[in-house]
Amino acid sequence: MTQHMTPLVLAGQPPFAQGGHRLCFVDPRDSNRCIKVRRPDYPLSALRRDKGFPKNLRPLSSFDDNAEEFRVLQQFQRRLGDSVFQHVSRCHGFVDTDLGPGLMSELIRNPDGLIAPSLKLRLWHSGLTPDLEVAINALSHCWRELLVPSRELLLHNIVVQTDPQDQVVRLVVVDGLGSPLALPFHWLPRPRRVARIERLLHRFRQRLQQLDALRTAGGDFPGLRGHLLHYGQEPQP
Ligand SMILES: Nc1ncnc2c1ncn2[C@@H]1O[C@H](COP(=O)(O)OP(=O)(O)OP(=O)(O)O)[C@@H](O)[C@H]1O
Ligand SMILES: [Mg+2]
Repeated sequence: MTQHMTPLVLAGQPPFAQGGHRLCFVDPRDSNRCIKVRRPDYPLSALRRDKGFPKNLRPLSSFDDNAEEFRVLQQFQRRLGDSVFQHVSRCHGFVDTDLGPGLMSELIRNPDGLIAPSLKLRLWHSGLTPDLEVAINALSHCWRELLVPSRELLLHNIVVQTDPQDQVVRLVVVDGLGSPLALPFHWLPRPRRVARIERLLHRFRQRLQQLDALRTAGGDFPGLRGHLLHYGQEPQP
């Protein structure tokens, strides 16, 4: 964290996205980076209260997604090596902002300059096209090869990078990294890790098929998550 300096001002500019816990801004100093801050309307104390017993016994710091993500991504670099960042957004540490500590990371953009849409949105618009299938398999392969510790692979926590012909080239997981278990994932015997990853990938596949089926049936886009706020769609200068 940069200290003894005036905090970076974010409050004036609109976030390009918001999740359940964080607001995502384009870094005003670098349009290829994003800065995530905790949502000011959802303080850690409220989050802990909402978790209920027994999770609410844990210290407040353990509910901070930014702190946890920073720790996890440093560990990824050390334990899994650089190749994991083909499918995970790179983390660039913290910056002090007027909205609290901001975690800086690689902002995934497409050749047209737009911020990459979530997998949920892309699938909804284009379906399970062959290029998307290839990219899904590449992500799954990476999870299997490196035994990447992650929470559920949710379709709004993955973004889709495309080439100038709008073919999918890369899926990038931007949230939900690290093991949900109390003990470090690499402490589990390898066969247990392999089995967990297989189950996780199976559920990922089911989620994709469910959304595709809903789309084919002409249903409504489920929930608000996965949408970028409209100003995220504007090309950058
Ligand atoms: N590095 C990135 N590049 C492009 N888009 C991103 C990036 N990080 C986040 N997004 C977009 O912003 C949305 C919200 O970000 P994120 O998932 O980190 O917030 P959150 O509050 O932690 O989410 P949750 O509701 O899952 O807890 C994502 O669904 C994604 O569409
Ligand atoms: Mg999220």
